[in-house]
Amino acid sequence: MLEDIDHVGIAVSDLDASVERYRKAFGVEPVHRETVEHQGVEEVLFKVGTSYVQLLRALGPDTPVGRFLERRGEGVHHVGYRVTDIRAALTRLRDEGLPLVDEEPRPGSRGTTVAFVHPIGLDGVLIELVQEP
Ligand code: CO
Repeated sequence: MLEDIDHVGIAVSDLDASVERYRKAFGVEPVHRETVEHQGVEEVLFKVGTSYVQLLRALGPDTPVGRFLERRGEGVHHVGYRVTDIRAALTRLRDEGLPLVDEEPRPGSRGTTVAFVHPIGLDGVLIELVQEP
C-alpha cells in the first residue's frame, strides 16, 4: 500500500530564509513552489531521489501549520506516503480504526490527490497519503 515516501513536510517561519539555507547547505535548487490556499500554506519542494523535502510556510496564524508553529515551533510537520489508490488506502485505515483528518480525498499541490490521517493513531506523526495525477 505504501509505495514510497512522497515527501517530508517541514514547518518553517521564514520560507525564503529556509530555502536559502537548503540551497547553501546542500547545493540544491527548488523544483516547485506553490500556494495552496485551502490548506493555508505556501510550499517549496526540493527533490531528493524519488521523494521531496517540502518546506511549509503558514499563510496565517489560524491555519493548521500556523497553529503547529505556535504550539511546537519549527520542525517536521508530517510525512507524506505515496499510494496508488488513495480511496482504497483510506478505506483500509478507516477499517483499522485509525482516526482520519480527511474522510474524503482532496486536491493537494502538483495536481496530486491527498488525505491526512490523524497523528493520534500513528505515534504522534501526522501522515498524508498522496496519489500522483
Ligand atoms: Co504534505
